[in-house]
Amino acid sequence: MAEVIIARDQSEAGDIAASIIVNKIITTPGTVLGLATGSTPLSTYAALARSVRDGIVDVSGVRGFALDEYLGIPAQQPQSYRSVITREVVEPLELTPEYVMTPRGTGANIESAGAEYEALMAEAGGIDIQILGIGSNGHIAFNEPGSSLASPTRIKALTEQTRQDNSRYFDSPDDVPTHCITQGLGTILRARHIILLGFGRHKARAMAAALEGPISATIPGSIVQFHPKATVIVDEAAATELANAAYYRHARRSAPWSSSKE
Ligand code: PGA
Repeated sequence: MAEVIIARDQSEAGDIAASIIVNKIITTPGTVLGLATGSTPLSTYAALARSVRDGIVDVSGVRGFALDEYLGIPAQQPQSYRSVITREVVEPLELTPEYVMTPRGTGANIESAGAEYEALMAEAGGIDIQILGIGSNGHIAFNEPGSSLASPTRIKALTEQTRQDNSRYFDSPDDVPTHCITQGLGTILRARHIILLGFGRHKARAMAAALEGPISATIPGSIVQFHPKATVIVDEAAATELANAAYYRHARRSAPWSSSKE
């Protein structure tokens, strides 16, 4: 099963996730990272940026693939995930911009953009570590409830809940795109290591359903139960609905090999 770590707060969670990633990059300089947007991964990116600034890790060979992109938003617009990844990941981590890809959300033959992105990931050798957040409805990337567990990168309609959640980034709720292009659940399952993060009381139900409920397309985050190497890091608030919290704490305290011991 997934290793579940209950961290004190987002900052400790970000430090733990970053240390896993830094260790990987040190042993594999050409590490391929799967990059999430949203507020959840920010403490991880901040910790990684500190490691880069302090000279602990050289990221010049690191490549990255974003999880998703809005359909119809030009890359140069600030709300596009290309812009978000540039601002929040490429610049602070000093990654090589042309090594970091986002799915194409505009242009001709948009229906083939998913297959193009899958081909780019395969060419890069696949994702070594995929960073993920979870939506309050259990989605991961833009795989809304009901997404096929085997889905590839493809165009999806956003739920009204997700459009509402993301309207904070737009001038008006009507400006939020209705569609996106997203890595699929099948794509995410192919990553060699998944780090799923969740913070805050509003994520507690989705996290408990993903970790301890049935594996189901209704809770896309539940695919972590199906992955051979998944690390799940939550803060205390997001852990409040976990039935097995005492066991996760015990397992973390007593694992001499864990990179994330308290
Ligand atoms: P958040 O979004 O990181 O902004 O909470 C996560 C998600 O909806 O996937």
